[in-house]
Amino acid sequence: MSKPVRKAVLPVAGFGTRVLPATKTVPKEMLTVFDRPAIQYVVDEAREAGIEHFVFVTGRNKGSIEDYFDHAFELESQLSAKGKSDLLAELRRAALPAGAASFTRQQQALGLGHAVLCARDLIGDEPFAVLLPDVLVQASPSCLSQMIAAYREVGGNIVAVDEVPAERVSSYGVIDPFGAPAGPLIPMKGMVEKPPAAEAPSRLKITGRYILQPEIFDLLATQTPGAGGEIQLTDAMLRLMTLQSFHALRYDGQDYDCGDKLLYLQAFAAMALAHKDLGKDAQRILTDLLKQT
Ligand code: G1P
Repeated sequence: MSKPVRKAVLPVAGFGTRVLPATKTVPKEMLTVFDRPAIQYVVDEAREAGIEHFVFVTGRNKGSIEDYFDHAFELESQLSAKGKSDLLAELRRAALPAGAASFTRQQQALGLGHAVLCARDLIGDEPFAVLLPDVLVQASPSCLSQMIAAYREVGGNIVAVDEVPAERVSSYGVIDPFGAPAGPLIPMKGMVEKPPAAEAPSRLKITGRYILQPEIFDLLATQTPGAGGEIQLTDAMLRLMTLQSFHALRYDGQDYDCGDKLLYLQAFAAMALAHKDLGKDAQRILTDLLKQT
């Protein structure tokens, strides 16, 4: 039986240059997506999947992420004194249990592969998940829950994938499926980071959710820079594929990339529309706004 996936790595060191100036003083992971910071959706997704420990790979100016997952005593006692029990419960739900979060710094922006390598000591010798907080996934069960269910079946390494138009493949990691995909769980024979459209092996992009075996760390430690001059996780995974099994899971759900201004707008609207209490009102407001333009 495969070892359970208990820990997750969240790389949060990036500058968020594609959404400047919004990210000049606010980490991109803390930008509000309707009523909560983007990172909250990703942590909720992972908690739903049973993740017990979160390793945040941070950088300079990311202190507010650490504060966000802590209790806020002054605020909580104020809310309690005023009898605002619903808000209080929501705030408390957002905090992580004692000892469930670790923070380590990626001191140089050397790429995603290097960020994951920074979590090596905190992960140790067990399988783990990686969730890129730029990407929010609306899915039920959550994307990572679907991946964990697949992992229980086949073990090894799993990446979530979804289909993108040919003109967008060059912005992502793209998988090379083994044979014609017959179902959602796709055996793989390769993958490539940011291929030119004409050379892409498929239109299935890596969504930013991974389940990896700890042997990836030795490979990341010796990984040479790839696309964009960065140490790429995709390149190290390709090397791991010669030693261990890899599957791609075409999950059931919808992803939103918050790392780009217009896609961020789309994510914001999607989360507003999906809100359990305010979704209907959000729909009315957005529809009226579009009618006026
Ligand atoms: C990263 C990964 C890429 C993946 C993408 C998902 O790229 O390197 O393989 O498809 O996230 O959003 P980045 O967006 O950091 O350039």
